Amino acid sequence: MSDRKQIAVIAGDGIGVDVTVEAKKVLKAVQTKFGLPLDVTEFDYGAERYLRDGTTMPETQVEDFRNNYDAIFIGALGDPRVPDMAHARDILLGLRFKLDLFVNYRPVKLTDAKLCPLKNKTEKDVDFVVFRENTEGLYVGMGGIFKKGTPDEIATQEDINTRKGVERIIRYAFEFATQKGRGKVTMSDKSNALRFGHDLWLRAFEEIGAEYPDIEKDHLYVDALTMQMIKRPEQFGVIVTCNMFGDIVTDLGAQLQGGMGLAASGNINPAGTSMFEPVHGSAPKYAGQNVANPLAAILTLALMLDYLGFSKEGAEVEKAVEQAIKTDNTPRDLGGSLGTSQVGDYISGLI
Ligand code: IPM
Ligand code: MN
Repeated sequence: MSDRKQIAVIAGDGIGVDVTVEAKKVLKAVQTKFGLPLDVTEFDYGAERYLRDGTTMPETQVEDFRNNYDAIFIGALGDPRVPDMAHARDILLGLRFKLDLFVNYRPVKLTDAKLCPLKNKTEKDVDFVVFRENTEGLYVGMGGIFKKGTPDEIATQEDINTRKGVERIIRYAFEFATQKGRGKVTMSDKSNALRFGHDLWLRAFEEIGAEYPDIEKDHLYVDALTMQMIKRPEQFGVIVTCNMFGDIVTDLGAQLQGGMGLAASGNINPAGTSMFEPVHGSAPKYAGQNVANPLAAILTLALMLDYLGFSKEGAEVEKAVEQAIKTDNTPRDLGGSLGTSQVGDYISGLI
């Protein structure tokens, strides 16, 4: 790999295409101002390609990403013409597993109190990050169906928790808390009911937590976590949890910060290629109408820049998004009146 960072862009389906155009526009503005040493290569994986020639994500492409790219940026995947989402699963979950992107990093940060659905909560109350384990749990696809379509049908879906997998995500959460000065790590599981897999989580949390005496530790069953996220979100700094629960609580978290239009995420392999994607889906019915909110994609770009070592530039993009929100230069879902491309223009103009 050269000294220049290599970024692969997969715009994907639906509004994924619309928001990626804006993220690239903002990246171009950043490039013009700072001249970052990075190159962008576009890939056409998604529903259109799948319907055309049956390609989802070829093994050779995964190899190419692994060996020649620092990061992948994905817009969104999902198209009604592919009802079982086969291509989206292969691409999104496939890359998470094959590139071993075990950290799903999802910040929850309220930039303006007016966007919070909770009463009497302000910017200082909603500011935490969720680390979702991203390669195990119920997502591994182990299980099967027996006697399908009969009254005796049996379906199993295994919940896989390995010592290595649980340990590395918990350790990552503690390291992050240490480096970013977050004083507390909350681990959430359902060990009162799931007595094996989540007992492993509990033991690993206690053991690894003991290595970080300066960080406060807390444990909440996931049902209590959802309640506390609404009741007292200010108690959280870093939350770490399993794949399935992380999926659910990060949608809840997204609402606390103003909705899916603002939720960014990174799928990280600290030793390899990482992948960045807005949390929202492809919203096919809004595609191509200049109404999608590109801010989640733009914040995802900021996250990616920061992760690649361009922290100053990432912070600048984030600041521009905050400014857009403060001044209501936003799309309709956030109370503004701008179209997708006008939001991109506005943010680029601030860079
Ligand atoms: C997410 C999404 C995915 C997930 C889907 C599309 C498989 O909901 O990134 O949160 O469940 O991980
Ligand atoms: Mn989800």
